[in-house]
This record gives sequence, structure tokens and C-alpha cells, in this order.
Amino acid sequence: MLKYIVFVALSVFYFINISTQDKPNLPLTPKCLGCICEAISGCNTTRMCSGDVCGAFRLTWAYWADGDKPTVGQQASDDPTAYANCANDPYCAAAAVQKYMFKFYQDCNGDNVVDCHDFAAIHKLGGYGCHAPLPDFYTQRFQQCKEFIGGSFV
Ligand SMILES: *[C@@H]1O[C@H](CO)[C@@H](O)[C@H](O)[C@H]1NC(C)=O
Repeated sequence: MLKYIVFVALSVFYFINISTQDKPNLPLTPKCLGCICEAISGCNTTRMCSGDVCGAFRLTWAYWADGDKPTVGQQASDDPTAYANCANDPYCAAAAVQKYMFKFYQDCNGDNVVDCHDFAAIHKLGGYGCHAPLPDFYTQRFQQCKEFIGGSFV
């Protein structure tokens, strides 16, 4: 159920994601955002910070900063609570993910396309380390989500 709520929440991005550029401003489709969310946290949207990560996308402060520090509402990005508030908000966190992927857009697995498999690797391993192997657990949850959704998946 939660899964679907998040999908509906994220699907708003679908309407502004249509682009024919090589490097789209919003590289991730809603399905891709949803499956990265599933893989990283089971897409658990309960507000929480643990260690150095917050929210359903498990964003670090550095990731959020590289994602251009989006904020919830009109909050200033230098407000001490801005990062945790954004990371704990699925829309705001997804906006940070999109910006981060725009910045680190690359073919991580060497298959000559940049798609959600690359974004999943960038999300987990970072923009400078995405060629490394992914943890099995993360890959399995990502694949299960992909199969569950079916259809065209990029
Ligand atoms: C979501 O995370 C919270 C906080 O860690 C936890 O208490 C809860 O059981 C989790 N929910 C699911 C469905 O895993």
C-alpha cells in the first residue's frame, strides 16, 4: 500500500520528465525513482534519520548538497533543519536525487546506455564510485521491484 502511495506521489514527476535531450534535466522516471526507493529502504517513508542518512532515499548531507540543496516549502537551504526536512519528504528527496543524477549522469556498467541501472548504482555508490559492485541485497530488491512493475523500464 505504502508502495503505491509513493508511486502516486512520485508520478507527478512523470509530467515534467518528458525530454528528448541526451541528458535530461530530470533523468529518472517515476518507476526508476520508485525502485531505487524500494531497493535502498523498502521505500519506508516514516520520518527518520539514522547514522549519517535520512529518509526513504537514505540521503546523506553531502548527497543532498550535491543535489543542489532543495528544501521543503520556502525553507532556506542554510537552515540547520533543511537537509533532514528535505530528505524526509519524498518529493524533496526525489528532487535532490534528480539533481544529483543530472550532475553525475554516466554509464556505470559499460553497456553504452545511461539508464536506471546506472542511476541505482550511482545512488548507492556515489557519483565517483558507481563502477564498483553493488551489495547483493540492494541489487535483489532493485530487480524484484523492476520485475514487479514490469513493462518498459528505463
Ligand atoms: C519504517 O521505519 C520505521 C523506523 O525505522 C520502522 O519503525 C518501521 O517498522 C518501518 N516500516 C516498515 C514497513 O518497514
